[in-house]
Amino acid sequence: MIDAATRLYCVFGNPVRHSKGPLIHNEAFKDKGINAVYLAFEVQDAAKAVQAVRTLGIQGASVTIPFKESIMAHIDWIDPLARAIGAVNTIVNEDGVLKGYNTDCQAAVAPLVPFGISGKTVCIVGAGGAARAVAHGIAAQNGDIIITNRTEQKGLALAERINARFIPADEMATIQADVVINTTSIGMAPKADKISFPPDALTSDMVVMDVVYTPLKTALLEAAEQKGCTTIDGLSMFIAQAAAQFELWTGIIPDTDLMRNIVINDKR
Ligand code: ATR
Repeated sequence: MIDAATRLYCVFGNPVRHSKGPLIHNEAFKDKGINAVYLAFEVQDAAKAVQAVRTLGIQGASVTIPFKESIMAHIDWIDPLARAIGAVNTIVNEDGVLKGYNTDCQAAVAPLVPFGISGKTVCIVGAGGAARAVAHGIAAQNGDIIITNRTEQKGLALAERINARFIPADEMATIQADVVINTTSIGMAPKADKISFPPDALTSDMVVMDVVYTPLKTALLEAAEQKGCTTIDGLSMFIAQAAAQFELWTGIIPDTDLMRNIVINDKR
């Protein structure tokens, strides 16, 4: 029951109304008997959002598109892994000290590990915060990375940072990769018809992963399935990063099956 002792957690993003974060975190709080609620806030400004965390005593926050990088300048301490990645997706409020973490990196790589990343050519579409986390994890597994991105300057900067190749977005069709990972918001509802990688460049031996999970089957994964590729949807990464956030906030490991099922059964 919500009362005067209820603690507040939230997600900051824009857009954010599609987020399943409130659904899974609130279910996990209920399941673990924790007096807390989790809300979604669509904000314009990272600095003002962080100020709200301080002013209202918000206990923890998820940070999503487009604030994973800009939020870093406004918090008090950044975990070394998040610092190396250059993106924070989790804020923990420890008695007024705001600490930033990145739970995307491990969560992104985990579903790919069974396919063996070492020595494989991995094409990462995008160069934002999510791309940095994925790239960092793939590089740690000795994958041979190609970055492609709409804004060349950003893509080149990421490629340089992780010692990878950059291929401009208008040359994407020429990319030959074993694994393709979309880290952009392309294909996210309500613009679910948009595709982040040219279908003609997909071949049946590829593994194709999308970090977008609304819809579960993005236009990219639909095309990849039609080409006979192995596909990995964004839900496994989303649940894994959320479970790690929940543990950072509460010290308790949530039931990830419960989290996954509530998203899959959500018909809204
Ligand atoms: P996040 O921190 O969640 O990764 P971000 O830092 O804003 O969010 O990065 C978003 C990524 O998606 C970027 O690579 C962005 O491309 P630009 O660098 O050109 O901005 C990419 N992206 C978002 N919308 C896009 C679109 N409609 N077409 C192509 N790329 C897009």
